[in-house]
Amino acid sequence: MAEKLWGGRFTAPTDQFVEEFTASIMFDQRLYRYDIEGSIAHARMLAKQAIIGDDEAETIIDGLKQILDEIESEKLEFKISLEDIHMNIEARLIELIGPVGGKLHTARSRNDQIALDVRLYLRDEINAVSDYVKKLQQALLDQAEQNLDVIMPGYTHLQTAQPVLFAHHMLAYYEMLKRDAERLCDLYKRVNVLPLGAGALAGTTFDIDREFVAEQLGFAGVTRNSLDTVSDRDFAIEFCSTASMLMMHLSRLSEELVLWSSADFNFITLSDAFCTGSSIMPQKKNPDVPELVRGKSGRVYGNLVSLLTLMKSLPLAYNKDTQEDKEPLFDTIDTVKGSLKVFADMIREMQVNAEPMRIAAARGFSTATDVADYCVRKGIPFRQAHEIVGKTVRFCVENGKDIPELSIDEFKSFSDAIEEDIYDFVTLEASVNARRATGGTAREAVKKELDRARQEQVQSHP
Ligand code: ARG
Repeated sequence: MAEKLWGGRFTAPTDQFVEEFTASIMFDQRLYRYDIEGSIAHARMLAKQAIIGDDEAETIIDGLKQILDEIESEKLEFKISLEDIHMNIEARLIELIGPVGGKLHTARSRNDQIALDVRLYLRDEINAVSDYVKKLQQALLDQAEQNLDVIMPGYTHLQTAQPVLFAHHMLAYYEMLKRDAERLCDLYKRVNVLPLGAGALAGTTFDIDREFVAEQLGFAGVTRNSLDTVSDRDFAIEFCSTASMLMMHLSRLSEELVLWSSADFNFITLSDAFCTGSSIMPQKKNPDVPELVRGKSGRVYGNLVSLLTLMKSLPLAYNKDTQEDKEPLFDTIDTVKGSLKVFADMIREMQVNAEPMRIAAARGFSTATDVADYCVRKGIPFRQAHEIVGKTVRFCVENGKDIPELSIDEFKSFSDAIEEDIYDFVTLEASVNARRATGGTAREAVKKELDRARQEQVQSHP
C-alpha cells in the first residue's frame, strides 16, 4: 500500500487479486528500454525549460541509466504491486536517487507515456519486420535465379492451365511481399509522431517543448490533439492489419509448399531441418513449418479482430481497456517475425525438382491456348479458334494422345489453317517464351523482372 505511487487518495489497500488482475508488468516489461529512453528525453526537456534544475535532470538521467543496466543484467525484480513498467521504473528511480526522482513525472501522465513507449517500440519492430521481409524476398529471388529454366504447370482452379516458369511463380510472391513492405513503410509515418505532452488527456499546465522531445527521439512531428493522442490505437491496428495481409500471403505459399512437397506432386523437397517425422508411420516426413505458418495466420487475424473490437465504441479519452492492446500487438510481432525468419531459411534450402514439374506441365493439354492463338494468327477469329481447339482436345482425350503427338493430318482435320509449323508452337518452351509482354512468363520477361527486383532490393531501406 505504502509503495503505491498513487496511494495518497486511498485508505484501504488494493484487493490482492485485483492487483494482479489489473497489472500489466508481466507483458509490458518488454517496453523497458523505450520507457527509459522516453524518460531521459523528457527529463532533458524539463531542464531545458527550467521546470526542473539541470543538476536534478542529471541525477535523474544517471539513475535511469543505472536502472537500464539493472534490467539488462536481470538485477531488477519487477513487482506486480507496482502495476506496470512505468511505475516499476519510477519507483526504482526514487529508491535510487531519493525524492528528486519524483520530479520526473512532472508534465507527464502514464497515458501519454504508454502511447510513447508503444510508438518507440513499434518503430523498431516495423524496421525489424521489414528486414525479415527483405530476407525472404532475397531467398525467393535466389531460387528464381537458380531455376530460371525450370518449367512448371500454371494452374487455375488447381487444374493445369498453361506452363509457367518456376521463377515466375517465385516472383509472384516477391511482388506480394513488396506490397507488404510498402504498407509497413507507409504505416511507419503514422507511428513516427510524438504523443508525449498530451498529459492525462487535456495537455499540461507546464511550459513544455514537445518539438525538442520529438527531435531527441527522432520523431518526424508531434501529435495535434491531446484527447486523440492518449486514446488512439489506430497505428497498432494498422500494424496488425498489415501483418494479417503478410500472413495471408505466407499462408498461400505455405499451402503450395505443402502440396508441392507431397509424393503426388514431388515438385520440391524441403530440407530435413524444416520437417518432422511421424511417431507411428516410419516413412513420413511432414512439412510442419509451412503447415504451422499457415495455421499461425489465423492467430494474427484474431489479434487484428481483438484490437478492432477492443477499440469499438470506446469513449474518449484514455480508458484502461487499452491496456489490452499490448498482448495482441506483441503476439503479432513475434508471430510475424518468427514466420518470416523460418520461411526465409526454408525457401533458401528448398530443393526444386525440375523433372516432375516438367512432366506435370506437359500434362493436361497445357499448350491448347497456344494452338488457339496460332489459329488466330492465321486469321481465324478467337472464338472460332477456341471451338477448333476444344474439338482437338476432345479428340486427344478420346484417343489417348497429347497435342504435340497429333499428326499434321489429324491437326488439319480440325482446321485447314494449321500447318507444319504448328509443332514449333506446342512445346513447353515455345508456350512459355511466347508470353513476352511485361509481367508475362517468357524467360526474357522474367529475367527482366528478376533484374529489376534485385535493383529494388539494393535501393530499398536497410
Ligand atoms: N498500463 C497502462 C496501459 O497499458 C498504462 C497507462 C495507465 N494509465 C492509467 N491511467 N491507468 O495502458
